[in-house]
Amino acid sequence: MDAGCSPHDLAGFVPSAVECHGQVVENRCVAKDTWIMRLFCPELAREITPGQFFMVRDPRVTDPMLGRPFALLDVWKDANGNVAGVDFGYVVVGKMTSLMATWPVGDDCVLWGPLGNGFPVSDVDRLCLVAGGIGVTPFLAVTNEVLGAQKYGNSNRIGSSRAKSVSLCYGARSEDYLMCVDRFRAIGVKIHISTDDGSCGQKGFVTDTLRELISSDDCPQSIYCCGPEPMMQAVSELAAESHIPCWLSLETPMACGFGICFSCVTRVRMDDGSTDYRRTCVEGPVFRAEKLCFS
Ligand SMILES: Cc1cc2nc3c(=O)[nH]c(=O)nc-3n(C[C@H](O)[C@H](O)[C@H](O)COP(=O)(O)OP(=O)(O)OC[C@H]3O[C@@H](n4cnc5c(N)ncnc54)[C@H](O)[C@@H]3O)c2cc1C
Ligand code: FES
Repeated sequence: MDAGCSPHDLAGFVPSAVECHGQVVENRCVAKDTWIMRLFCPELAREITPGQFFMVRDPRVTDPMLGRPFALLDVWKDANGNVAGVDFGYVVVGKMTSLMATWPVGDDCVLWGPLGNGFPVSDVDRLCLVAGGIGVTPFLAVTNEVLGAQKYGNSNRIGSSRAKSVSLCYGARSEDYLMCVDRFRAIGVKIHISTDDGSCGQKGFVTDTLRELISSDDCPQSIYCCGPEPMMQAVSELAAESHIPCWLSLETPMACGFGICFSCVTRVRMDDGSTDYRRTCVEGPVFRAEKLCFS
């Protein structure tokens, strides 16, 4: 396939990131308002690690002019077993995502990444992933890595991430919005679903299933969480009460994605008790839960 890729260095801003072209290989609706897009973009796919993200822009339009951030769902390989591109999941909420849902196979887009810090290399036996809605997307790659099903990036994290057991507490509005459940199940994740309306799993909040897991024999030693902010605050409080280290991945709206516009700042606690601001795109999107100020 013709890559159409001519990567440009973003060195000076984010040294490991490139700007390149992505070509749509697949773009399909997988749940209510929820799509998975597969892009051919080997340069990005070879470097990106779980929890990192990239910016996507449509070169054919000026509205929206800015790119939009999306988390890595997974990388995919070509027939020769070479990493060839990325998959990402998106919910149609506004201008760009509505446009993206119309992109046919073969269309080009502009990408820049990998961006952000991603989730830390897991060194515990029992890891729990807590997802709200589309916040589930970073966790397929996290799971693949810690269970040894897939290696990501060129860094020294290869081979060092591990877990014996991965649980996923996954909350959604209703069954219609759930995505990738079979893929998580197929790689051995223990899934605890909750829905607002009780149409699948337990009726209630994701914190209910997390609380039950924490009081069971399978109590996690680390929690990684991504979803709406009120949910992440509740998960953060539960983790603190239970003395379980917790990392949160923020979905703060972003303009540039690589540190120059300061549109994405979030307030954090400093070691001396004061507070300061950090750019979610560069110093995040993943932060230790106790560092974040939610109000
Ligand atoms: C690091 C990171 C990773 C992300 N990963 C994913 C992902 O994997 N899948 C996915 O579907 N989305 C993800 N998002 C959110 C995604 O970037 C937004 O949904 C997208 O930018 C919306 O673009 P739009 O042009 O369609 O919407 P717009 O027209 O820009 O906005 C539509 C509406 O959504 C609101 N909105 C836009 N962005 C956000 C946001 N980040 N948080 C809350 N409200 C918002 C706007 O205020 C507006 O009301 C991620 C965001 C970040 C920062
Ligand atoms: S999005 Fe521009 S600095 Fe973070």
